Amino acid sequence: MLARRLPALRTPYARQASTKSSLRQVLEEVVPIKQQRLKQLKAEHGQAVIGDVKVENVLGGMRGIKAMLWEASVLDPNEGIRFHGMTIPECQKLLPPAPGGKEMTAESMLWLLMTGRVPTPEQSRELSRELAEKGELPVHVQHLIDSLPASLHPMTQLGMGVAALNHDSAFQAGYEKGIKKTEYWTYALEDCINLIARLPTLAARIYRNIYRPGAPLASVDKDLDLVGNYTNMLGFGDNKDLTEYLRLYIALHGDHEGGNASAHTSHLVGSTLSDPFLSYSAALFALAGPLHGLANQEVLRWQLAMQEELGSGHEVSHEDIKAYLWKTLKSGQVVPGYGHGVLRAPDPRFLALQQFCEARPELLESPTIALVKKTYEVAPDVLKEHGKTKNPYPNVDATSGCVLYHYGLKEFKYYTVIFGVSRALGCLTQIVWARALGLPIERPKSLSMDAIEKLIQ
Ligand SMILES: CC(C)(COP(=O)(O)OP(=O)(O)OC[C@H]1O[C@@H](n2cnc3c(N)ncnc32)[C@H](O)[C@@H]1OP(=O)(O)O)[C@@H](O)C(=O)NCCC(=O)NCCS
Repeated sequence: MLARRLPALRTPYARQASTKSSLRQVLEEVVPIKQQRLKQLKAEHGQAVIGDVKVENVLGGMRGIKAMLWEASVLDPNEGIRFHGMTIPECQKLLPPAPGGKEMTAESMLWLLMTGRVPTPEQSRELSRELAEKGELPVHVQHLIDSLPASLHPMTQLGMGVAALNHDSAFQAGYEKGIKKTEYWTYALEDCINLIARLPTLAARIYRNIYRPGAPLASVDKDLDLVGNYTNMLGFGDNKDLTEYLRLYIALHGDHEGGNASAHTSHLVGSTLSDPFLSYSAALFALAGPLHGLANQEVLRWQLAMQEELGSGHEVSHEDIKAYLWKTLKSGQVVPGYGHGVLRAPDPRFLALQQFCEARPELLESPTIALVKKTYEVAPDVLKEHGKTKNPYPNVDATSGCVLYHYGLKEFKYYTVIFGVSRALGCLTQIVWARALGLPIERPKSLSMDAIEKLIQ
């Protein structure tokens, strides 16, 4: 019944292209449709029950509670992520690459996440042009970043820089002026586009200040896509393979539904009508935790220590890796890059990055990438035998850093910053939609142990 009466916004919809040339114009088409759909859902099914809450959910970090509307992607425990119903291989096939490249661009993914539609190559290029035009960093943010000590973690610098960008927030200025609620999303969109445009410039400045002090920083090239510009400003512009890898990595990492710590943080902070810069800055500090975004730096540290002890991934035996895994576990540490809060199968993002490696002989020669592959052949059985984790399979971080390392981006303290550039695509999409759909301030109910015991009785 519901499916017949509501406009179709599901998988086939995601494959339709629109003739409008700008992201904003397409959103103007899509927003009223979704607003209507939400209204109907609320009016006709507001009282329908879609889950229950057990004490273990309350005590267990709210895992499994269906409590949040997040439009751009949904994570299936066994299948992995789908973006508006599209799997990773479908996105790889259908989302336009940059001119001369093969991997989908960040712009194509952003377009899909925001609108639910696959962009044409022209639409994707138009968005690249818009982002490049808006990519310069305001002078006060340049000064702020340049004044920070190189010893300050790059994620702290990124979060501070993003917060300082709110100086020019259209949403905040509009709110102070008294704009109507129905206009919120257009102001939020302006901020989100400006933030996505400036993130690579900010992130590259942090990298150059910390790791290449004194070296000149390239400016934004209006003819390049977002990731082309990012690698260029990082100083790796002539490495086409690294640029392609980063395109894939940033698009794949763009969204992972809404319950993970960084996405939930930006949504929560945004729900107070804090502007998109402050909301995403808060998200970055959640991403900086070792159980979340910092895991990619931990994985590489752990892999390199294993390589140091056991030797190249080409030579090491499965038995030696097994013993190393047990040593890690017996010392009370987690095996980094394995396990997940929702996934119960190998992460398709891990598989896509592995495929990228398989297609490049020079990557297959890397002793570290070979070690990642061999670890994958052994670790799930060891973790099953260990018997603690609910998901003994690799997540995306099991491999992401090793490829960057191979291409010469060796400063692994910086890796979470790249994740932060990427995750902006999904978190900021949600902020636009949260304002378009008029979602309220978040306010779940908390309970004390006394209150829980009373409820049980
Ligand atoms: C991702 C992660 C934080 C998910 O945590 P979670 O939802 O609590 O995971 P589980 O429900 O499977 O955890 C149950 C137990 O297994 C343990 N466990 C989970 N993953 C593990 C791993 N990779 N190695 C060893 N033990 C692990 C947990 O620490 C927990 O132990 P406890 O009961 O003593 O507290 C966790 O798997 C982890 O720490 N992984 C390693 C870090 C990582 O790769 N993070 C990136 C995520 S994208």
